[in-house]
Amino acid sequence: MENFIISNPTCLHFGKGVINDLSETVSKFGKRVLLVYGKNSIKTNGLYAQVVAQLHQAGSAVFEYAGIKSNPVISDVDAAAEIGRKNNIDVIVAVGGGSVIDSAKIIALAIPLKNRAWELFEYKVKPVTAIPLIAVLTLAATGSEMNGFAVVQNDVTKQKPGYFSPFIFPKHSFLDPSFTITVPAKYTAYGIVDLIAHALEGFFGKGETTLTDRFVCSIIKEAVTYGPLLMKDLTNYGYREKIMFAATCALNGMTSYGKKTGDWGVHGIGHSLSVLYDIPHGATLSVAYPAWLNYFKSRIMDKLNFLGKEVFDTNSPEATITSLEHYFHLLGAPVRLKEIGIDAWKKEEIIENMVFNKTTGDNLKMDRADLENIFDLMLN
Ligand code: NZQ
Ligand code: ZN
Repeated sequence: MENFIISNPTCLHFGKGVINDLSETVSKFGKRVLLVYGKNSIKTNGLYAQVVAQLHQAGSAVFEYAGIKSNPVISDVDAAAEIGRKNNIDVIVAVGGGSVIDSAKIIALAIPLKNRAWELFEYKVKPVTAIPLIAVLTLAATGSEMNGFAVVQNDVTKQKPGYFSPFIFPKHSFLDPSFTITVPAKYTAYGIVDLIAHALEGFFGKGETTLTDRFVCSIIKEAVTYGPLLMKDLTNYGYREKIMFAATCALNGMTSYGKKTGDWGVHGIGHSLSVLYDIPHGATLSVAYPAWLNYFKSRIMDKLNFLGKEVFDTNSPEATITSLEHYFHLLGAPVRLKEIGIDAWKKEEIIENMVFNKTTGDNLKMDRADLENIFDLMLN
């Protein structure tokens, strides 16, 4: 086991009705609130009205930035940060999925800096503080609600990097599973894929910790058990609750305790597919993971056997990979590039983007030839 420090400062409010604590929580951070959200979902499902009522109850002056897109872009971050600076805001309330929360995290860092937000990703500026962030999660997937990571894309340079800062853990996150009941089937499935992928990135990372590997298997088992039930019954609160809790645990640090790093090579592959063709994050992972596992299987036999025994009741690496792939398909997620509209002739462009973005993985290192072979496996 590697030495490790656990420090997760996010205060998590989980369960039905937790939104009623938002008013009191926000007031602790000040009166001037920047409310950040996505396109339409929170207006059509009634959550916007509930959040605004809480903010009014707190006596907040509310400034808004709406329209954050899925696979969020840096231009929205800069525009929102400008509104935040102009109005001297005290606190950000982000209401949405990973795209909204990630954007809000970079907005929180960018407001006190006078620079363009992209300079953070270029490491040209070093933040020393951030505006406090409160998250209201509406989609179970990324774990952004309880971690210090943000992923934002630059459509001009064709990059989708992650950024970590200890200043951007949400101060509070509100997770009411009933807010996720309106998430459409395909995004529900992509969210389940994403949480499994986060657990696997930890599992295949550098270092050995048996207890952490058991955490990983338990999280994946939870998703494998309740994911298909949820897909058949999207409005079921109990299944939404199980998936939401699993998604938070999959990327709040616990799947990497005692490890040097996770691997994150599959996420790198996925980010290239998203930045080039605007493919939803989870859909890139359900295509990339089976291919990556097949490519590296001779080097990860023991881990695949462990995963197979704990989760899928299989007794060979091949059977474990096939079970995972069947499971993704059962959810309704794609498992080959053609299902997300990508043909062989895009290979060059995709490989170039991955190499440009230094997609190597942190444990099982990939070079250009490896990426080309994995591309071929994603195709066939
Ligand atoms: O924009 P609206 O109208 O809100 O619609 C959204 C969006 O179209 C919709 N949605 C969200 N909650 C809903 C809902 N629709 C109905 N009812 C609700 N309650 O769902 C769509 C997808 O939302 P998005 O936020 O993009 O999804 P997700 O939570 O999967 O976030 C994906 C982003 O997070 C990044 C990904 O790369 C991607 O950019 N990630 C962030 C991570 C982190 N911060 O730790 C780690 C992950 O690996 C990932 O990279
Ligand atoms: Zn992910």
